[in-house]
Amino acid sequence: MDQLQEPWWKRSVVYQIYPRSFMDSNGDGIGDLRGIISKLCYLQCLGVEVIWLSPIYDSPNDDNGYDIRDYFNIMEEFGTMEDFEELIVQGRQHGIRIIMDLVVNHTSDEHAWFVESCSSLHSKYRDYYIWRDGQNEQPPNNWGSIFSGSAWERDEQTGEYYLHLFSMKQPDLNWENPQVRNEVFDVMKFWLDKGIGGFRMDVINFLSKDSRLLDGEIQPNQQFGDGSPFFINGPKIHSYLKEMHEKVLQQYDVLTVGEMPGTTSEGAKIYTNPDNKELQMIFTFEHMDLDSGPFEKWDLKPLDFISLKRTMEKWQLELHDVGWNSLYWNNHDQPRIISRFGNDSEMYRELSGKMLAICLHMMQGTPFIYQGEEIGMTNVRFQDIKEYRDIETLNMYRAKRQQGNSHEEIMKSIYAKGRDNARTPMQWTSSGGFTIGTPWIDINENTSKINVENALKKTSSIFYTYQRLIQLRKEHDILTYGSFQLLLLEHPSLFVYKRKLGKQEWIIVANFYGETEQISWENFEVSDKQGNVIIANYECPLIAYGTIIVRPYEAFVIEVGGE
Ligand code: NOJ
Repeated sequence: MDQLQEPWWKRSVVYQIYPRSFMDSNGDGIGDLRGIISKLCYLQCLGVEVIWLSPIYDSPNDDNGYDIRDYFNIMEEFGTMEDFEELIVQGRQHGIRIIMDLVVNHTSDEHAWFVESCSSLHSKYRDYYIWRDGQNEQPPNNWGSIFSGSAWERDEQTGEYYLHLFSMKQPDLNWENPQVRNEVFDVMKFWLDKGIGGFRMDVINFLSKDSRLLDGEIQPNQQFGDGSPFFINGPKIHSYLKEMHEKVLQQYDVLTVGEMPGTTSEGAKIYTNPDNKELQMIFTFEHMDLDSGPFEKWDLKPLDFISLKRTMEKWQLELHDVGWNSLYWNNHDQPRIISRFGNDSEMYRELSGKMLAICLHMMQGTPFIYQGEEIGMTNVRFQDIKEYRDIETLNMYRAKRQQGNSHEEIMKSIYAKGRDNARTPMQWTSSGGFTIGTPWIDINENTSKINVENALKKTSSIFYTYQRLIQLRKEHDILTYGSFQLLLLEHPSLFVYKRKLGKQEWIIVANFYGETEQISWENFEVSDKQGNVIIANYECPLIAYGTIIVRPYEAFVIEVGGE
């Protein structure tokens, strides 16, 4: 690729903000836009150049903003349009672009289109959603909703059922209808014209449904059928994305990233190849699914570490020189990575957090950091289900209790995988610092130790590892363009790989476990037997005399060969 023509997002690092939990400026216990504005200096100091805001549109908050009532207004709790415009301007002054969440697989059931759609079979808006007759008083097919229960809800007024892949307050839009598509394109233009830097697109590969809507297979221990083969990467998805590109995106220099559960690296190549004029990158779930059983995320399984390496390798190799990767360990739907693939004990929390960061950020792609990741925030364990807020977690709890599972058993899954692990308030100070009021969800009690104030004071904190990693990406072409080669695939605890650009080679070594390991220079397949340390999480890596000692959760990067 011509590096002079390089798109800006290839060297940027994105920071995801979950506005509800980031910073509350007015004491109502809910994070807001002015809170975000007050933390721009902090984010600039970290070095990120892009913020992705989880939805801030007007919403009744059945799914914390992923159920939009009005695409042209800001959620009252978060502030006003003026606040948003100020965020864009002030962001720019701090060298930060704002990207928004585009949630257009579904709307809220309180959206005017849906209200109209329900009002009569003949409404102009009827066909904005997916309506079907039931069969013998039963829903049109056996699909389960991702948030438990049936994916269909009967509307009393007209007697038909509407499809909702998520909660019953999130009816799916009918993308077959060209009017729906044009409405969405107008929404996109409205925000792009305000100067935003792009979109993260919510479950964007669910838009096209196979119109036969056939029953799905019922997997063991499941009550409902799995409809996903009929809506994941459905028949018209590429044509919808191309139309979106042609009618909207091509007129703006923006970042687009599509959230795409169930998409393989082969599929990602098609979505992200610039020649296809669709998206720039997608979020894969393959690496996030490696610690779950086959049918649902709540089935816990230890991480298969060799598969993790194989998966990351596959995505790195497949998209190199064709499309582009996004790189992430965390977001608002995932548990905290230190508690998941690292070690959140007092002894190894910081080390494992830095190790995971180094391992991911040396790969090719655009890294995404989720709020709090940069200070090593961990999962939370509330005792009482009443302390949880997430609709997915609460619905699952209810359904599994009804099926006879014990409270303790279900809590184990929630502690490991629940989305509220990521949604507790950002830990700014030892007493919280998120709000002067009562937070909408409890803060993790470890804020007394894990907080921004402490992180900024201590030069060896995780924060500064992230800062350095972001800096390295801006400075070194090898990170943006270098090739990727996985080494030592079968090693049970070390993740080792090589990046190479021209004569320059970087070796990345990361120990995912708590034992000391020994390898040799020969394993690196390089001609030199020495190198400069670029970054490390122990003070001094033990890399002399042909033997490399890798301590618990150690990670380092060494450069061999010249520029
Ligand atoms: C994916 C989002 O990331 C998640 O938070 C949300 O619940 C669903 N899509 C539905 O919008």
